[in-house]
Amino acid sequence: MEKLVNKQIVLGVTGSIAAYKAAELVRRLRDAGAEVRVVMTQGATEFVSPMTFQALSGHPVHLTLLDTDAEAGMGHIELARWADAILVAPASADFIARLTHGRADDLLSAVCLASDVPLALAPAMNNKMWHNPATQDNVQRLASRGVLMLGPDEGGQACGETGAGRLQAPEELLAGLAELFESGLLSGKTVMITAGPTRETIDPVRYLSNRSSGKMGFAIATAAAEAGARVILVAGPVAQTTPSHVQRLDVESAQEMFDTVLANINGVDIFIGAAAVADYRPVQVATAKIKKDGGSLRLELEPTPDILAEIKARYPGLFCVGFAAETHDLQTFAQEKRYRKGMDMIAANWVGPAATETDGAFGSETNALLVYWEGGGVELPVAAKSHLARQLLMHIAQQYEQHAAHPAEQKVVSLTTPDRH
Ligand code: PMT
Repeated sequence: MEKLVNKQIVLGVTGSIAAYKAAELVRRLRDAGAEVRVVMTQGATEFVSPMTFQALSGHPVHLTLLDTDAEAGMGHIELARWADAILVAPASADFIARLTHGRADDLLSAVCLASDVPLALAPAMNNKMWHNPATQDNVQRLASRGVLMLGPDEGGQACGETGAGRLQAPEELLAGLAELFESGLLSGKTVMITAGPTRETIDPVRYLSNRSSGKMGFAIATAAAEAGARVILVAGPVAQTTPSHVQRLDVESAQEMFDTVLANINGVDIFIGAAAVADYRPVQVATAKIKKDGGSLRLELEPTPDILAEIKARYPGLFCVGFAAETHDLQTFAQEKRYRKGMDMIAANWVGPAATETDGAFGSETNALLVYWEGGGVELPVAAKSHLARQLLMHIAQQYEQHAAHPAEQKVVSLTTPDRH
């Protein structure tokens, strides 16, 4: 179940006799590589002790909406933002009804309402409750809003009756949950992503570089592959594992990154520049180690190729998404960069000491983005890079669709004759 590796799952447990089966589910989710936070309704605690879920998930269980300590730590909004997906298993008839009506009077319903991540429900209830028109109507309304229904299964029930209403088995729930990460949003498209830093050689043992870890770019590559795209990841020197179904091309310098991008750009539909490409490189590369002579050392630097600007200039029809990493005046610089480099979209992030909420963004697990496109934009608040990557890709897919539907409205950003696209 590799789709669940590193996924952040909020598991909601509601008041049903099947609540005890959710304990096994937590274990299976963790075995599959997911991180789990459990939210229990009051009803669920009548069936199973929160201690069970705390021990199995390795984290405190979230129980109440109006708990000042919890809200100061990971409150309902933070939980909603933290989650890559929410699975409610078992989902009782009452919970399904409350969700249908947008109630937010307990923690779990509030988290569901405050979240825009994929939501799956695994109903478990008496078979007559399941077949009741009220429940069926609620289920259909939720399904029409994009909520995934997993089950229920048929069979003998705790109440002694037989029929539909049994909680699906853990392996079926895991498989269903994994499906949530296969959006198909970019199926048939080829996406190229640059990630990580570049190294600009000074001498055989030294180089100029930056603190990029590649986490953001690799998260985008993972999300793009899950969205069904063919993905080419041009990676600077980083210690990240290659995501599944991603073609990785390793490079070191900005020039190598540029050459590799150019050599593989044919057939690419969307280009995303998440790499922190060095802007300058030494004019002279010393062939032997530079010796310390006690005095100061001057390095003469020259600009590296601007990969994004060059690619957009050569292929104006290619949908290009850039990043802007700024320590001040983020919005102004980002808008200016988008315009100057002719990008279709730009994702701007605070970096360095100004990025207090995201530990500087370089190398950290979290990030926050301001995303701009022609005539619009969206703020993606602090979240895990994996989560942000999926949100960003959703907006990229939307803008790309519009761009593809109205090619005549594309702005001409260069006089260079396009030789493709
Ligand atoms: O890798 P992580 O540790 O996860 O950190 C993520 C990140 C902070 C590096 C990432 O989110 C990010 O902001 N990447 C872009 C960093 C950057 O170099 O930004 P910039 O504002 O200097 O460059 C603007 C855009 O031009 C970027 O898309 C960059 O890839 C591109 N560029 C820059 C210089 C150059 N010579 N060629 C380029 O294509």
